[in-house]
Amino acid sequence: MRVKLRRRRFGQLAVVSAVAAAFGNLTKNTFAQTNPKRPTPSGQTFESAGSVEVKLRVNGASQALTIEPRVTLLDALRERIGLTGSKKGCDHGQCGACTVLVDGRRVLSCLTLAVTCEGTDVMTIEGLARGNDLHPMQAAFVKHDGFQCGYCTPGQICSAIAVLNEAKNGEASYVTTDVRQKPRAVQLTDDEIKERMSGNICRCGAYPNIVAAIREVHTDKAQAQTWQFAGENETAIFDVPEMKKETGEAAA
Ligand code: FES
Ligand code: FES
Repeated sequence: MRVKLRRRRFGQLAVVSAVAAAFGNLTKNTFAQTNPKRPTPSGQTFESAGSVEVKLRVNGASQALTIEPRVTLLDALRERIGLTGSKKGCDHGQCGACTVLVDGRRVLSCLTLAVTCEGTDVMTIEGLARGNDLHPMQAAFVKHDGFQCGYCTPGQICSAIAVLNEAKNGEASYVTTDVRQKPRAVQLTDDEIKERMSGNICRCGAYPNIVAAIREVHTDKAQAQTWQFAGENETAIFDVPEMKKETGEAAA
């Protein structure tokens, strides 16, 4: 019996050690992949024999990188260039948080190899504003409160900008009713906006406000803001009969 227990404990220890070693290697490899020239905390460097020189143009500035061919555009932006606006939500092409523009078209940077972007113009959320002047889409997101935690917002905004270009170019979506219509530019209804933005997930559920923001920029017509800061609508809240009842005003 004791022998059996010892064997079992030995087996458990072996499994734990194997998992720890695998995790260590994974961490080391991830570090090596994204930081080939930086030393690890133990002083080891990862200048891989397979590293290649890549020149990217990001937000109008040239960036020369030495990276392994398997490094994604997202990791190159965040870990090598230091542009952390694009977010890593799922790293599997399912959430849209990493969306950036490459030559004006939206791409999921977590599924795009950085080496394939040589010679292109990459635009991230950091490159949209002109000094203190926000891009119209950024301003509309602020006006319509198109975010809560903001994690998905850089990807949402880049996607939204691309959606407007796609509509202008007459590119049909799954819900476009007449793909032969003339003039070719697609009018973005709310259904069109929702369908075209469906690859960008917002766990905070800011969807109605995101749609309002995109609608405003697309139509170039001011849309009514549907939210107010606390306090601005205090009177309105206390005008609600139920609230009056609760505060005893109705009886007075
Ligand atoms: S991080 Fe790229 S799609 Fe989620
Ligand atoms: S604002 Fe929080 S995930 Fe979209």
